[in-house]
Amino acid sequence: MRIVMIGTGYVGLVSGACLSEFGHEVVCVDTDTAKIDGLKRGVIPIYEPGLDEVVSVNAKSGRLSFETDLKVAMPGAEAVFIAVGTPTRRGDGHADLSYVFAVAEEIAAHLSGYAVVVTKSTVPVGTNRKVEEIIRKAHPDAKFDVASNPEFLREGSAIEDFRRPDRVIVGCDTDRARAVMREIYRPLYLHETPIVFTSCESSELIKYASNAFLATKITFINEVANLCEKVGANVQDVARGMGLDGRIGNKFLHAGPGFGGSCFPKDTLALLKTAQEYNTPTRIVEAVVAVNEARKREMAEKIEKALGGVAGKTVAILGLTFKPNTDDMRDAPSLVIVPYLREKGARIRAFDPEGAKEAKKRLDIEMCADAYEAMDGADGVAILTEWNEFRALDLGRVKSLLKRPVMVDLRNIYRPETMTAAGFVYVSVGRPNAG
Ligand code: UDX
Repeated sequence: MRIVMIGTGYVGLVSGACLSEFGHEVVCVDTDTAKIDGLKRGVIPIYEPGLDEVVSVNAKSGRLSFETDLKVAMPGAEAVFIAVGTPTRRGDGHADLSYVFAVAEEIAAHLSGYAVVVTKSTVPVGTNRKVEEIIRKAHPDAKFDVASNPEFLREGSAIEDFRRPDRVIVGCDTDRARAVMREIYRPLYLHETPIVFTSCESSELIKYASNAFLATKITFINEVANLCEKVGANVQDVARGMGLDGRIGNKFLHAGPGFGGSCFPKDTLALLKTAQEYNTPTRIVEAVVAVNEARKREMAEKIEKALGGVAGKTVAILGLTFKPNTDDMRDAPSLVIVPYLREKGARIRAFDPEGAKEAKKRLDIEMCADAYEAMDGADGVAILTEWNEFRALDLGRVKSLLKRPVMVDLRNIYRPETMTAAGFVYVSVGRPNAG
């Protein structure tokens, strides 16, 4: 099947490359000429493990190609995916749909035979209907259906998530569209992946409700962690005890510095906005957003307190991205924590395995070549992201490099007993300090 994927951002590129791996003929389209030129030469604009290989293998086989002109890409396409960005609109928290609507207009101009116009971008309830109206208005005799097909990829394991999803959600109204969508995802039948067909509205809401629920789980355990610190409990034991209950599950119960990334912060805000518009308060999600915002600052204060104030001191920061295995800095807790410490007079020496380039654009800090260089001569170290290489630091070396052996571990990757025995002043999240 011939498929056009519009937008070569994170979602579009991963989805396009993986669909070509399924055996489809995929053309990825983007207006960014430099990006497309790079992709044609095999330059991947983002860091995502395994993506470069999927792109190069399928580009070589001829199933995956890149194009700037939609007109060239469209002929013969049975499905056209919209995977352009929907950033939070400045000021009001609503998703900015201008790119989605502009693409819909453009698709209308180039539709010839029947095609399903599939929205992969995360869009508020009702957007697929609007896309349908835009195309219908611009091209009244076009033969097409719209479908909503939200993505649930996690950055850092997106390729595996695409190959083996828990489920595929498709919202559409006609048997013809359902048949096309079934055909696109047919290779997943091998793993018996459930394909859930719903209305467009339900499909759109499934995405937001899922992400809001996961964000709620994280925020819940973060608040429990605060309580653990007060009563002398250990949040990891509490989470394990809770998670063994099959109704609760053990995932997304890791206490930390608050959620970040490209999805949870944006999607929770957009859900609130939709709820307001329909005059149906979602007070739990409101609380999640507020608690998570406050949390990032509280974590900065935790670091400040552990170091006995930071004015005139040097703080080593390990990890800046919102989670490991990505170079994504969007809404990362570091974007609140680092400026706070700087404002209080700290000098920051930081290291992140993949995030340095993005971090330099957003933060005024000194980037180091590795973790040890960042800690050399610092008054203390704070771990913000749980990259694997931070999990087994040479503690003797760390201690000899730091002026004072203070470690604030916001991801609980070390054991308090080990750290205390090694002579550190060790502060983590929701766990009693041993010793
Ligand atoms: C998420 C969803 O998982 C995915 O389904 C959706 O399509 C996009 O958003 P992603 O943003 O890549 O994916 O990251 P995820 O691994 O889900 O983590 C989100 C944030 O929550 C990170 O900041 C992470 O550090 C934090 N987190 C996650 C916790 O603090 N505790 C946890 O237990 C889990």
